Amino acid sequence: MKNRNNNFKFFEMKEIKEDEFKQLSNLILKENPEALLASLSLTNIKIYLQKVIVSDNLSLFVLKKKKTIVAYAIIAKKVSFLILIFSNMKLKIFFNLITKFKFIKIFNIMLSYLRLDIIMITKEKKKIINTNYNLNLLAVKRNFQSKGIGTYFLKKIFKKIKKSKYITVESLDKRAYDFYCKKHKFLFLAEKYRIINNLKILVKKLT
Ligand SMILES: CC(C)(COP(=O)(O)OP(=O)(O)OC[C@H]1O[C@@H](n2cnc3c(N)ncnc32)[C@H](O)[C@@H]1OP(=O)(O)O)[C@@H](O)C(=O)NCCC(=O)NCCS
Repeated sequence: MKNRNNNFKFFEMKEIKEDEFKQLSNLILKENPEALLASLSLTNIKIYLQKVIVSDNLSLFVLKKKKTIVAYAIIAKKVSFLILIFSNMKLKIFFNLITKFKFIKIFNIMLSYLRLDIIMITKEKKKIINTNYNLNLLAVKRNFQSKGIGTYFLKKIFKKIKKSKYITVESLDKRAYDFYCKKHKFLFLAEKYRIINNLKILVKKLT
């Protein structure tokens, strides 16, 4: 990636302006359609992002080129902080999923709520997942993909969060899996049961 320092600004968002919210929600809907967040209404996506930016335990990182948000990522100090936000919004989420007929997502949430999805994961692996940083969502705007921007962005994030020993991520598809494992030396840790496609939990040592 050439001239990156001149063109791109990396930072943690502490407020979200209306135009930035539109860009972020577009990125989420277009690039992370499988994520639970993408099934929510725009109002609820906004509530969620607001909760993320005010939390001391969650961060919304972005990469901007002038006024364009080129990439975003959500990092949690522990997975439980993300679960807490979703849990506080559970009725809103349930209503959104029902009205959009997202029954498979509801079933998967139930699997997760009852902890049946992690029933086969060993205690040691669960400890790694639960006590380290988690990369929850990541996307690069479509016309900026495959130019090394995702790699540049992720390296910036790793530098910021180097206090954590490991970072975990749940990979949703083969391309994301390749990005994390081939380009960023993540390793396969475990699998979470899901209807249709299981989620692969990947881990990378940071320190
Ligand atoms: C995964 C993603 C963040 C990578 O960002 P990027 O800027 O394209 O990454 P880089 O240019 O540094 O590396 C590209 C490599 O990542 C992999 N990759 C994964 N998804 C990809 C995608 N949708 N487009 C292009 N490359 C992708 C490929 O191995 C690719 O290698 P190649 O260019 O040699 O084919 C980006 O492609 C994206 O936003 N994808 C959709 C959302 C997503 O899958 N997020 C991750 C799960 S939360």
